[in-house]
Amino acid sequence: MRIVDIIDKKKKGLELTEEEINYFISSLVDKTMPDYQASAWLMAVWFRGMSENETALLTKAIINSGEVINFESLTDKIVDKHSTGGVGDKVTITLIPLLAAAGIPIAKLSGKGLGHTGGTIDKLESIPGFSCALTVEEMKSQVNNIGLAIGQQTGNLTPADGILYALRDVTATIDSMPLIASSVVSKKIAAGAGNIILDVKYGSGAFMKKPEDAVKLAELMVKIGKRLNKSITAVVTSMEEPLGRAIGNSIEIIESMEFLKGNIKTGDIAQLTYDFAKIALLQTDKFKDEETALNYVKELIHSGKAMEKFKELIKAQGGNPDITDNYSLFKQPSYKVEIKSDKSGYIKKIDAYKIAYGCKLLGAGREKKTDDIDYSVGVYLNKKSGEFVNSGDVICTIFSNNEDKTELCKKYCIEAFEYDIEKPSPQKEIYDIIKP
Ligand code: URA
Repeated sequence: MRIVDIIDKKKKGLELTEEEINYFISSLVDKTMPDYQASAWLMAVWFRGMSENETALLTKAIINSGEVINFESLTDKIVDKHSTGGVGDKVTITLIPLLAAAGIPIAKLSGKGLGHTGGTIDKLESIPGFSCALTVEEMKSQVNNIGLAIGQQTGNLTPADGILYALRDVTATIDSMPLIASSVVSKKIAAGAGNIILDVKYGSGAFMKKPEDAVKLAELMVKIGKRLNKSITAVVTSMEEPLGRAIGNSIEIIESMEFLKGNIKTGDIAQLTYDFAKIALLQTDKFKDEETALNYVKELIHSGKAMEKFKELIKAQGGNPDITDNYSLFKQPSYKVEIKSDKSGYIKKIDAYKIAYGCKLLGAGREKKTDDIDYSVGVYLNKKSGEFVNSGDVICTIFSNNEDKTELCKKYCIEAFEYDIEKPSPQKEIYDIIKP
């Protein structure tokens, strides 16, 4: 078998066999295939797509490129939640300590920032000392000890996804349904959870721009789950506007901690976290209805139990839990620039992609797979859609370490804000739910 023939076959839009997909993935992992051939294959898949059967075979091959965690008797109880990627999307960080505090064990493999979107690993690793590089044994013992662990797809867990993920990020091949589906589902199955909840995003800040495409992606992932004997629930949600007010790495962790401390009770982040928590809690059969589940979640925040769980997670993964009460322990940016509105009116929309692009220019994301990122930079939205501004009011704040980059980011931020004289109707967060 030759890799060049596999690339050629895909280029012509033909269906690959299981042997060909397995050969491609094993050559990727044992490094006998150079990156340029893997990149050419990714581009061929981007243009030609893959059938449901090929996508399931690719998912299986990625899973088999490493180990699968076996939580034995705990497996059926373990929940994993994953987002297909967004801007300011910190719902994993707000949700998992809550679920763990509710007694639901969580074992999760996360990703680094991809394209313009942020990554849970980058955000968590903005906490000095925090590391997601856990071995299978470390993941297992941490779930047994504190009820939650967040690892990454390196080492012996879906190593093929780690390589493909980094290549896709720099070869413009991220927004492909079979590549997203196989990347997400392989990680979720390898991490060993019995119940998988996916947040499939659509909109300006997502990889799927149209809700109908996000529904197709959601359906594909649920079907692949079924073929591989996993129960997957996929929730299709909006990513037209950044989630919450903070976009960056450390500033998103700070906003998540403010939610867990009970200081953010309304708005999109609170709403989506509550919605996902309700879905997870109702799957346990311990709650008779949504209202009881929601009251329980709010009590976990009010009592400090959710925040306590987040502190335990930080400590277990090498970070300093004192950071939860002392935000100055995060690396600090040198510039803080406030952007003022030059008009009055309601904010109609804030374009998520433009804000993300501005943040990437500041250094919050990677241009090349080897780039370091700057955890301290980002954009804070002082105003969100539906809020009224007077001319001269601050609409957003840029945190930066470079004057020229600040100017570039400012241009994208100003362009991102759209105004209206009428108050816009509130945006619906959940578009559809695809059940197993
Ligand atoms: N998240 C992933 O893990 N993989 C993708 O391809 C997109 C989002």
